[in-house]
Amino acid sequence: MTNEPSVGVVGGLPWRPERLRAERRVNPLGVGTAHPWLDWRLPAEAEDATPAGYRVRVATSVTGLAEPDAWDSGWVASTAWACRYGGRPAASRERLCWQVQVRVATGGVSGWSASACWETGFLERQDWRASWIRPGASAQRPRSDRRVYLARRRFSLAQPPSRARLYVTALGCYEAHLNGQVVGDGLLRPGWTDYTRRVQYQVIDVTKAVRAGDNLLGAMVAPGWFAGRISLHAVSENHGFPESPAPELLCQLDVELPGVRMVVVTDERWQWRESAIATSDLYDGECWDLRLLDADWDLPAGQETGWLPVERSRGAARELVAERMPPVRAVEVRPASVTWRADGSALVDSGANDAGFMRLDVDAARGQQVEVSYAEIVDPAGNLYRENLRGAACTDRFVCAGGVGEELAPRFSFRGFRYAEVRGLSSPASLRRAESVTLSTDLERTGWFECSEDLLNRIYAAICCSQRANYLEVPTDCPQRDERLGWMADALLFAPMAAYSYDVAPFFAKWFDDVLDARTAEGGFADIAPRPSARDTAGAPAWADAGVLLPWLIYQRYGEVEPLERMFPSMVDWLHLVHARNPDGIWRNARGNDYGDWVPAGPDTPHDLFATCWLYRSTTVAGRIGGLLGATAEHGWLTERAQTVRRAFAAHYIDSGTGQIADPSRRGSSAAARRFAPIAAVETQTGYVLALMFGLVTGQAAERAGARLVNMVRKAGPALQTGFAGSALLLHALERAGAVDTAYDLLLRRELPSLGFMIEHGATSIWERWDGIASDGWPARPTMNSFNHCAMGSMGAWLVEGVCGLRPSDDTPAFAAFGFAPAITARLDHASYRLHAPRGTLRVGWHWDGPDTVVGEVEVPVGSECRIAAIIADDRFEEAGTRLVDAGASGGGRTVGPGIHRVRWVRIQ
Ligand code: BGC
Repeated sequence: MTNEPSVGVVGGLPWRPERLRAERRVNPLGVGTAHPWLDWRLPAEAEDATPAGYRVRVATSVTGLAEPDAWDSGWVASTAWACRYGGRPAASRERLCWQVQVRVATGGVSGWSASACWETGFLERQDWRASWIRPGASAQRPRSDRRVYLARRRFSLAQPPSRARLYVTALGCYEAHLNGQVVGDGLLRPGWTDYTRRVQYQVIDVTKAVRAGDNLLGAMVAPGWFAGRISLHAVSENHGFPESPAPELLCQLDVELPGVRMVVVTDERWQWRESAIATSDLYDGECWDLRLLDADWDLPAGQETGWLPVERSRGAARELVAERMPPVRAVEVRPASVTWRADGSALVDSGANDAGFMRLDVDAARGQQVEVSYAEIVDPAGNLYRENLRGAACTDRFVCAGGVGEELAPRFSFRGFRYAEVRGLSSPASLRRAESVTLSTDLERTGWFECSEDLLNRIYAAICCSQRANYLEVPTDCPQRDERLGWMADALLFAPMAAYSYDVAPFFAKWFDDVLDARTAEGGFADIAPRPSARDTAGAPAWADAGVLLPWLIYQRYGEVEPLERMFPSMVDWLHLVHARNPDGIWRNARGNDYGDWVPAGPDTPHDLFATCWLYRSTTVAGRIGGLLGATAEHGWLTERAQTVRRAFAAHYIDSGTGQIADPSRRGSSAAARRFAPIAAVETQTGYVLALMFGLVTGQAAERAGARLVNMVRKAGPALQTGFAGSALLLHALERAGAVDTAYDLLLRRELPSLGFMIEHGATSIWERWDGIASDGWPARPTMNSFNHCAMGSMGAWLVEGVCGLRPSDDTPAFAAFGFAPAITARLDHASYRLHAPRGTLRVGWHWDGPDTVVGEVEVPVGSECRIAAIIADDRFEEAGTRLVDAGASGGGRTVGPGIHRVRWVRIQ
């Protein structure tokens, strides 16, 4: 659609808006709201434009756009690049076309964009005429049964459809089939939510797959996140539906024939049968008997025998919601290398630690058994190291049908792995092909960092690798062991970095519903979303805070207000709970599992102090959100509470004379924290980092506190002693304290503890623990030792903000205004970062031009401005003159407008 010529081009500007999206998707099907959020981008040619207004028109057909029958926004004076559709409510299944035109500050008007469209899903419950189905009663199975079943129904059509849509979901995971083909785009659908509350559905355009005559609609249905082992851990004990252990299917095929609409729905006319997958589990893997594969099961002419009646399940009051983010896909497939061992097994190496699986093509005899087990690392002898997978078997077993090049791969399971061991093949020649398939929620890549130091490039690559592996349906802690949960601090601390590499706005837009669903019975934020139902524990400091601080981050980076509006009432409820239990402003009570600064490299940070820093941060930010949303009463209360916390913190923990930030009580190490940091120190790096970065200490006291932090870091090595939370902001805090060189010491360090140490020890992804592999080369205790955890990768945000100098403004969302102030070091020759920001491409970078001169370059996107500040370094530099490559700069000052700008800084001797 977007390639069509625009309708009614007017105005004098030679460009038009592009990349039109509805609900953050291009031409989406199955939009779940009658008033979707629409956004667009200005093209590169519009580089010196400042948007001053837009006009959107919406019609029921492309040809109707000139005289829109659904909505004409009229000219709206605004610099925005997005708005909510404001016409009559769209009906269910309605397709609407739209286009946009922009006016710029100089008065010119762009052409109308090419048209785009969106189609709504089922907006009312009664649109669903299908019933949930599952294998018939005779087939009630024990809960340990993890079979994948097939379900299907035949139907006939007198003529081919003009339009056909499949609305489909499952309690579990499904793969939809129509007339012998898999339909739909995405794996492990319908994705992961708290199935007791809401289930996503997908809408698939099957117009071409449905035909005149006999048709067959079917699905494979697997336990997935609903009924597999992860659900026992993560979602619920049997979901409160003890009579319904088997996964269930719900689908409705809507077919439009000339003059008639026909639906085919799941009901008792469907049949089921076992598939070739005898067991399927996300943690444990799959067992296949390929002899049972029936290539014709999804064809209208397929065999009748062996099919059994399904039954309708009683259904439940779960909300059915339209999918709102891209699906999981195979985002990379690459060849793996194979080493044959003396015992006849093969070690397959994918080259990097990802989430996904191996796909093998083998020659085997009928009945031959092949076992494929996975691991993240191997020991020096080349044996898989699997203890850290804990209770997750991560093994697939196949009984081969026999033949040439039979494909062996799981269908509804994934694991975090680099290596696989294959047993049961007869000879090296029988493994024709081995490739690794990487799975991830298929988010758009939007950011790229590069510099002259290979170690930093490798650290950045490892951070992106961990992001891909852990941004799979929900932001997980790790992809490999029997956990893989949406731990909220992990998500919160890493998100600032994550948003520098991928467009995470749709991912979090969906996850915020999981966060809301996961709230405790009291109404507080939890630790994990989706949440294990049996677990009703108050969220710990830094974990629960994600409910406030993550929507704020998404607003800052993408300018999206909707998540703030959706989450604000819960933010206020949660903060009321915490403040009511902690009236004096020190967060001592209601801290749930109270993890503290998790897995630190040094002593634990006193938990009262740690918690109070987070309480201040969340209360302050929630207050700002209240102000932004016009919630005056809440804004007032939150601002006042923030002051109470600030005063209490100062009274308890700050010695303003010396700048010491300390808690002599060393109180509060929870049992969980004690496992990894047995002793809390009076003062810690993390205590300083949080107090400084959250603004709890300011002025001269902050200067002194900063100096103490720098001292502590230098005395320790220089080395970090921080855990999840402290590490995220340590480099920023050192920079703020004027110790750029010390920040680089930590960043470029290769000894324990550091990101460089991980890379030096073969890491291709970020580890959970600094000492995941200790200096002696052996893995640390296996109980908690993931080699693919995003959390410590949060330090990467300083690669972008510090090393390259991109300074997002706290007050101006979506980089409408940002700073350029790189932290320069002679240890790098150059560094650069590029971002597809909401308003267009943004680029920052610098290089040495001779021993004393640094050249900085910044590309400012359309409608944005950048303040070029002094560079940050231990030495002093002065600006030797800004050469503005582009004329769009607002001359005179150092605030520049859209375009590419170059600046020269010279060292003062
Ligand atoms: C997870 C962490 C998580 C933590 C809670 C661990 O098992 O892997 O990343 O945040 O538990 O402290």
